[in-house]
Amino acid sequence: MSHDPGRYDFRDKDADYARLAQELAGLLAGEHDPIANAANCTALLFEALPEVNWAGFYFLHGQELVVGPFQGKPACVRIALGKGVCGTAALQRRTLVVPDVHEFPGHIACDAASRSEIVVPIERHGALLGVLDIDSPRAGRFDAADARGLERMATLYAGSLGGGVTGT
Ligand code: SME
Repeated sequence: MSHDPGRYDFRDKDADYARLAQELAGLLAGEHDPIANAANCTALLFEALPEVNWAGFYFLHGQELVVGPFQGKPACVRIALGKGVCGTAALQRRTLVVPDVHEFPGHIACDAASRSEIVVPIERHGALLGVLDIDSPRAGRFDAADARGLERMATLYAGSLGGGVTGT
């Protein structure tokens, strides 16, 4: 299968996220494997989103998040619920937009280049599966439109699964 993430300039973020959502839906269509779909979702986002140096999944295992498919530099593997941006978003089950990671108490630095970050919880049938985490080297890179767009991606991902993260 050949796949071109296409050209997005994100001058109209809502419009481009809508196109990206269509592209993701096409990529995930007919496939229920949680790792395969997370991998393709991550690859699509990393290719399409400007000014991003890390994009990936953390999956909930018990009381901690464990890194899943991602693009970018090697990352910390385990994050306790409530720790860092990822663990806080997971615990609070809400999207966190962090304009400057240096000002987020307890931020976990995986790539020193990261300056801003957005973390979106992934839920299915009311259960928390994990989070989608995107980092940027530019402070203030993410806004409410990114939150809306990436929440849509997380919903598409969760909807693609046949079962939980460990089954189909
Ligand atoms: N910065 C995150 C850790 C994960 S990395 O950014 C890939 C956090 O504070 O939870």
